[in-house]
Amino acid sequence: FHVDMDADETDKGTYPFYMLKEIDEQPNVMRRLAQVYLSETGAPVVNDALLASMKKADRIYIVGAGTSYHAGLVGKRLFENLTQTPTEVHISSEFAYEQPILSEKPFFIFLSQSGETADSREVLVNVNAAGHESLTITNVQNSTLSREATYTMLLHAGPEIAVASTKAYTAQIALQAILAKALGEADKQIVAQRFDIRQQLGLVATGIQAIVDEKDKIEALVKQSFLKTPNAFYIGRGLDWGVSLEAALKLKEISYVQAEGFASGELKHGTIALIEEGTPVIGIITQSKTAGLTRSNLQETMARGAKIITIVSENLAKDSDDIVLADVDELMTPLISVVPTQLLAYYTSLLKGLDVDRPRNLAKSVTVE
Ligand code: G6P
Repeated sequence: FHVDMDADETDKGTYPFYMLKEIDEQPNVMRRLAQVYLSETGAPVVNDALLASMKKADRIYIVGAGTSYHAGLVGKRLFENLTQTPTEVHISSEFAYEQPILSEKPFFIFLSQSGETADSREVLVNVNAAGHESLTITNVQNSTLSREATYTMLLHAGPEIAVASTKAYTAQIALQAILAKALGEADKQIVAQRFDIRQQLGLVATGIQAIVDEKDKIEALVKQSFLKTPNAFYIGRGLDWGVSLEAALKLKEISYVQAEGFASGELKHGTIALIEEGTPVIGIITQSKTAGLTRSNLQETMARGAKIITIVSENLAKDSDDIVLADVDELMTPLISVVPTQLLAYYTSLLKGLDVDRPRNLAKSVTVE
């Protein structure tokens, strides 16, 4: 079979670590997905049988582990908004042994960079045994999960070598957006018809590029607030909360900072007790409905001594914001807002002198339960 990689894709080149190279590759991954999965007119090109099978479903179940699970949290919003199909997201190791009550016509989407995660495979084996149809979205052609699912779609992100996943996460979200657009359109959903996926992926690519071109700014923030702190918190609502979970995981994985992503409205119900003088709290603000609320939640942490940092979409930004993101459709903001958090984790790990690509205790692909 054809392996989708060039010589330079597995070579670090002048990069000190693969992770930085993979972060920088994300604009190209967005463009490549548009090339592979959109026609010249910008219409999604998706397997007809897959679409027909998804159209029959009364509920979508997205299953994944780690970063792939987090990409599923964004996928849920994409499928629900563009296709009006109720969508649940599950951690594979939980689903495997505590299966929720399924709808009458479930459709399963497995998200897995490697296509080899044992926890996810355990679920797929059960799904197959029950006769349900499924799709694996993976970065590795011919991987176990891609062979065993009914349908498969390739992420075309090129090999991801750093243990901490970056470009696979954004590729998983972008591909789910393409699929949701295709399914919504097949179902004559007006929101989907109006959603210009080609334009959005272009804006996303440019928006990511603007962030990676300003790495110095993020390195400076890390030097100011992250090298000595034992903990840090990301907060946000809705999609911004989903990205907060992924952002916190990145920081934990490679810099060993105890980081958590909180739904910002929940702070006052307990977790604000953790805030001390100088605790970094990073607010992600890309959703107009909740921007004001998250800002006041940030103020509450600041009043308790937190050092606040803001990552905000341009249309919601104020002069005092730290990192301003290019505007895209509010469903697509995770593709850009996650990038400064990847860089923040990268520089914290790098400046602490840690092995960015091979953090302790972790493996790129986990083939045991
Ligand atoms: C491992 C990796 C994570 C990854 C998870 C799921 O734990 O260290 O980065 O998110 O597995 O991997 P998958 O290949 O299924 O996406």
